[in-house]
Amino acid sequence: MIVCNTANLSSVTIYYPILGLNLSWVLDCSKCLLKIAYRKFATTATTAQTLSTMAVGAENMGNVKRQLVQLFEVSLQATVPSETDVAPLVDACIAKSGVRFGDYQCNNAMGLWSKIKGKQTEFRGPTAVGQAIMKNLPPSDMVESCSVAGPGFVNVVLSRNWIAKSLQKMLIDGIDTWAPCLPVKRAVVDFSSPNIAKEMHVGHLRSTIIGDTLARMLEFSHVEVLRRNHVGDWGTQFGMLIEFLFEKFPNPEDVNEAAIGDLQTFYKASKARFDSDPEFKQRAQQAVVRLQGGEDTYHRAWKQICEISRTEFHRVYERLGIQLEEKGESFYSPYIPGVLEELNKKGIIEDDKGARVIFVQDVNIPLIVVKSDGGYNYASTDLAALRYRINEEKAEWIIYLTDVGQQQHFDMLFKAAKRAGWLPADDGSYPKATHVGFGLVLGEDGKRFRTRSTEVVRLVDLLDEAKNRSKTALLERDTAKEWPEEEVEKTSQAIGYGAVKYADLKNNKQTNYTFNFDQMLNDKGNTAVYLLYAHARICSIIRKSGKDIEEVKRNAKIALDHEDERALGLHLIQFSEVIEEACTNLLPNVLCEYLYNLSEIFTKKFYSNCQVVGSPEESSRLLLCEATATVMRKCFHLLGIVPVYKI
Ligand code: ARG
Repeated sequence: MIVCNTANLSSVTIYYPILGLNLSWVLDCSKCLLKIAYRKFATTATTAQTLSTMAVGAENMGNVKRQLVQLFEVSLQATVPSETDVAPLVDACIAKSGVRFGDYQCNNAMGLWSKIKGKQTEFRGPTAVGQAIMKNLPPSDMVESCSVAGPGFVNVVLSRNWIAKSLQKMLIDGIDTWAPCLPVKRAVVDFSSPNIAKEMHVGHLRSTIIGDTLARMLEFSHVEVLRRNHVGDWGTQFGMLIEFLFEKFPNPEDVNEAAIGDLQTFYKASKARFDSDPEFKQRAQQAVVRLQGGEDTYHRAWKQICEISRTEFHRVYERLGIQLEEKGESFYSPYIPGVLEELNKKGIIEDDKGARVIFVQDVNIPLIVVKSDGGYNYASTDLAALRYRINEEKAEWIIYLTDVGQQQHFDMLFKAAKRAGWLPADDGSYPKATHVGFGLVLGEDGKRFRTRSTEVVRLVDLLDEAKNRSKTALLERDTAKEWPEEEVEKTSQAIGYGAVKYADLKNNKQTNYTFNFDQMLNDKGNTAVYLLYAHARICSIIRKSGKDIEEVKRNAKIALDHEDERALGLHLIQFSEVIEEACTNLLPNVLCEYLYNLSEIFTKKFYSNCQVVGSPEESSRLLLCEATATVMRKCFHLLGIVPVYKI
């Protein structure tokens, strides 16, 4: 497995001097500034799967935590050479009762002590191990000072100068140099995926918003993302829909969106007909067979129904600025027989009460892949799709977004794929499949979100309402009253849609969340409105200075002498490790939290205590404003939110 996706490996160099039995090699990637370290141990056979990635230290770029990990790796091996494979445990320090001993800490001493105590060792306890780890840390201009606290925590204070240089470099080279490199080249993100002829509801909104953000974060991290809309466009309900369509519109020319009206109502009416009239039911069942047999009129009717649904879905995607490529269930249907044949040959499929099923580990019900009537289903389609994504599309990571209700389906699907040998047994290796399940969207009554008039909330109406409310709020501000209509419209869209997205993304995905316009559109607290305003305010500080910021970037230096300048600088350079964590663990809320804290540090610390315009430190502070705005804009972009520059 090649770790760096830009894979421009230009040189092979010996990395660290030989430490005991340990050899380390590093491949330089000239494009993404990544080093791939390959460590060979005399006692363990190392496979390609154990390659680990590390960003380069000391060069003021990228992931700070990784750079410290590199330093501690050297120190740990020098401290206890007999323990050859100890991964450095480095974390950003969290303040306890307002006190922090450092910016980062290394927490290996205690674990190492329990490994070596009782063996022959010069150390007397974990604190001494911590002290030795500190002493053996290679000199680096990123570190200002170190100390050992408690039972051996090694605290690191980063150098102000180094932080300032990192920021300066980012401002000149661009924030993309802070993008993480992930160990995958290509991923499928299967998201949104509504069902044809059924209204795209607020549940699909979560899948759409979270999926888009995950795709954006992966794309930023140099992963090629296949954004897949796995729409439900196949299955037995189409027999019923087609027959109903024939009945209502004997002339196919008459079929169009206006005539059919609301597809959901159409679906309901056809379902009522299906349930009450046995003769209709029979025709509907035959229609499925004729459709799947490829009969022309049936195929055409199916396409008409899909097209009308698609127009409706697109209205939502357009408003949200979301790109998706439709490869619906129907796309995979020709592949199902071959895939089942393969699984059959492997002896994985068995008979169960007339159906064909796959049993998987630790689940007492089987995965049904052929129903007792011989028909295929959701699971057979997903098996074919997974096989296609691994084999044809060569995706190394396949990510599915649906509500948590489908967790068991995906658990069984992935286990079946492991039995088939399509996916490795071990979850740490690639190709890998992950289901991202999310909770329900609730109304203020704590029940599933609905409106009184219709059972489900129409997504388009909901987005329109968010936009209209933010427009009203915007027009209450004196400044916006003079704006051209187009600008008011654009800004209220950015705020309204941004608010809906952010309210969803800031939550931990697993939990249900309550949809509340007043809350999400509040300009105080952890909302997109607050964040967008904060960004606009920073832009206006820069504008008011009357300076050309590009020129300031070229000629001025950042200094972080004030405590609050340093706090802001430190938070800014942590962007890279936060985004890497959010990507690796598929957690957009981690990025939201980072963005909110950035805004708080800027407003409540830096901007409250450090005068910018007209101060002796003006140039340096303008650069800090610019760096903050740049990082905020990147966060907005990754969250699918359009930034606002003035309010
Ligand atoms: N259409 C499904 C639904 O609305 C979601 C599909 C998710 N993707 C998949 N490959 N199963 O519940």
